[in-house]
Amino acid sequence: MSEGGTDRYGVMGYPVSHSRSPVIHRLFALQTRQDIQYELLQVAPDKLEQAIAQFGRTGGKGLNITVPHKSAVASLVDEMSERASIAGAVNTVVFREDGSLFGDNTDGVGLMRDLQVNQGLKLKGSNILILGAGGATRGIISPLLEAEPDSIVIANRTFPKARALADHFSHRGPVDACRFEDVRSLPIYDLIINATSAGLKGEIPPYPEEAVHPATFCYDLSYSSSPTPFSRWAAGLGAAKSIMGWGMLVEQAAESFYIWRGVRPETAPVLKQLTVTIG
Ligand code: ATR
Repeated sequence: MSEGGTDRYGVMGYPVSHSRSPVIHRLFALQTRQDIQYELLQVAPDKLEQAIAQFGRTGGKGLNITVPHKSAVASLVDEMSERASIAGAVNTVVFREDGSLFGDNTDGVGLMRDLQVNQGLKLKGSNILILGAGGATRGIISPLLEAEPDSIVIANRTFPKARALADHFSHRGPVDACRFEDVRSLPIYDLIINATSAGLKGEIPPYPEEAVHPATFCYDLSYSSSPTPFSRWAAGLGAAKSIMGWGMLVEQAAESFYIWRGVRPETAPVLKQLTVTIG
């Protein structure tokens, strides 16, 4: 159904106008000489199922799924990868030849590649603090545990949500929960990940200052063309490094591109065009 051999892909979200995915995928396509088009698809939650079906009917080959649809799409696909199932969320959909939908989640691997490959962080034996206990946190705990840290603590404004997530994943490794105000300066945190959505809403929560040591690497899953409130906060407290999630964005996109096209694009040149680093 695709016109002139050009395969259709896109990103579905609400809102979606700020998404950088079209730029990233167009750069990947140029680099790997793949003939694809990639669209921005703004879809309200109540139109989601309909819109996905329509995209498939009109020749769509694959979709990225972003806020707020990732967990809803997990219940719309016919089959899911294990990592999507553990995350309870789908960010990549494949429209298969037989008309069925396959869901995957590349966010976790995207974060891990950015941390371990691009940033050269050694996570084995490390102490990790995650701020927030929503969908974003749920998607990264399992991949982080696979790197064999000594400990992961989930701190959240609403403590029971952090507790529930820690309990859910505790059979996979050393993960615990606490309130923001109960975070202490020990253990020395090697890595703090901001997985709250506070920055997106322009809010600055009472993040735990005690947790930032001069050796701490701070990573905001959010990203912006200017430093996010969390990355400014961390840099201001003298963290060893404070960066935003541009690398994760590009790496998760590369993994989606690979799933769709069977070709792995080089991320470094694309990341270079998008990266904003402070600290
Ligand atoms: P996402 O899928 O992006 O993780 P979510 O599931 O709505 O979104 O979760 C948002 C997270 O950001 C939650 O941990 C939320 O804290 P609560 O569980 O207490 O609601 C956190 N968050 C959002 N705004 C916040 C704020 N102003 N202060 C502290 N935490 C905030």
